[in-house]
Amino acid sequence: MAVILKGKELEEYNKTRYSDQWLTSAEHRLNSDYYKRDHNIDTLQTLLGAGGDKVLECGIGTGEFFAMELARGGKSVYGIDFSDLLLNDCRARFSEEGFTVRLGMADAQKLPFKDNVFDASYAIGVMPYMEDLDAAVGEMLRVTRPGGIVVFDMMNLWHPSQFINYWYRAFEASRFGFGMIDGLKRFKKSLGLNTNFKKRPEKVNYNLISPPKMLKAVKRAGSKFRAMGYNVLLPLDMPILGRAGNLCRRFPYFEKGLKDNKVLKYFGAKLVFVIQKG
Ligand SMILES: C[S@@+](CC[C@H](N)C(=O)[O-])C[C@H]1O[C@@H](n2cnc3c(N)ncnc32)[C@H](O)[C@@H]1O
Repeated sequence: MAVILKGKELEEYNKTRYSDQWLTSAEHRLNSDYYKRDHNIDTLQTLLGAGGDKVLECGIGTGEFFAMELARGGKSVYGIDFSDLLLNDCRARFSEEGFTVRLGMADAQKLPFKDNVFDASYAIGVMPYMEDLDAAVGEMLRVTRPGGIVVFDMMNLWHPSQFINYWYRAFEASRFGFGMIDGLKRFKKSLGLNTNFKKRPEKVNYNLISPPKMLKAVKRAGSKFRAMGYNVLLPLDMPILGRAGNLCRRFPYFEKGLKDNKVLKYFGAKLVFVIQKG
């Protein structure tokens, strides 16, 4: 049976296993490509263009993609994560480049900061691991000053490739699926095709979020927001297809052009929320 973690077990897994494996994971290795995508570039520009310079990244990880760029852009960067290993890696990267980063070990759902102390706060690739969305969104808004912005992305349950991706991984994590998919991968490899994941993933540890669920959390927080959808209806990194499955690149209009479409944006693989605190 696939093991889909929830509650305390999910929290424990994220703390002790997921975070520390992030550095060596296939996901991370593929990231240089991933982070050049439109939704990440737009997110970065939004943060660079925001007023003030004190920014907080929740779930900063190695900090190499967003936080480092923001430091290069003159921002004063703070970060929290619950992995010691990743925080140490992040600290080393910043000092190598001659930047200061202020880091702390904390849960994004319970931030150790006073109210209204940051000009902006953001979380990228982190919401899927939140058990309590209201708390995660609410905490970022709490620590951000009035007029400041909060930015985060989510993986959309309504997008076909995310949905298939999720169940593929759940199947792969099952005893039955592992044998079959391992065989398929060896076959793909023998044909010289890319196989993204070499090791059996032991657990499925992320949540797909539906737009209404996220909208509820955002509206409950009670501020003005903008939601943008990316990769609308197009396949995105289905492990079964490897990189060949990312057709978005060939259809730039669907990748980005529909990000503001009132209805279609909610069928994007990624939704990015930009909230201005009232
Ligand atoms: C997919 S990585 C993204 C890292 C980074 N934001 C980036 O874009 O490169 C997710 C990160 O979130 C962290 N994380 C997950 N749940 C968390 C929580 N509840 N509190 C703090 N950090 C968390 C993990 O340790 C990991 O560093």
